[in-house]
Amino acid sequence: LKLAVLISGGGSNLKALLDATADPEFPSEIVCVGSDTDAPGLAYATAAGIPTFVIRPSDYDSREEWGQLLAAAIQEHGVGTGPNPGLVVSAGLMRILPAGFVRWFSPHLINTHPALLPAFPGAHAVRDALAAGATETGVTVHVIDEGVDTGPVLRQVAVPVRPGDTEDELHERIKREERPLLVATVRNIATGELDLAAVRS
Ligand code: GRF
Repeated sequence: LKLAVLISGGGSNLKALLDATADPEFPSEIVCVGSDTDAPGLAYATAAGIPTFVIRPSDYDSREEWGQLLAAAIQEHGVGTGPNPGLVVSAGLMRILPAGFVRWFSPHLINTHPALLPAFPGAHAVRDALAAGATETGVTVHVIDEGVDTGPVLRQVAVPVRPGDTEDELHERIKREERPLLVATVRNIATGELDLAAVRS
């Protein structure tokens, strides 16, 4: 299964995927890594010899146009085309993918989100869980649809909120569960154990 990974930040989830896919037994390979910004995490891909690209929304007149260029950059690496379309993995991409992009790749695109969806969607999931006084939150890997963190849930793991947690402490605890969950979900998709075409909202 060919993977195109999209990131915006430090890329620890990308690093977990790179480490997993470095094993020739792993049923999947990363063919490119893209970002909307000069994400520090791109360095992990470069170090692994994997092509990277940066496509900035501010360079385009509309989000849809940005999405078209992003889609084209991914398709150049053989994801989203042909009989084996591969998988787009949004692993900390802090942008909403435009509808045209989603329609092109659907259902072969997944996202990881640091909350137990449908609780706490959006860009501040960890902060929102703390502000709501939640005693438990977690991580969700889901299929991306045209909404914000609304697509069908594939896998979830719960994580306790501890008294006095800061946003960073709680997010780190979530990410320790998130990295292996994302890797396991990609593996399950690659082996056919999880069939995205059969997953419905
Ligand atoms: C992850 O928790 C992701 O779910 C969230 O941002 C974080 C990215 O972490 N949206 P990293 O860049 O993979 O370290």
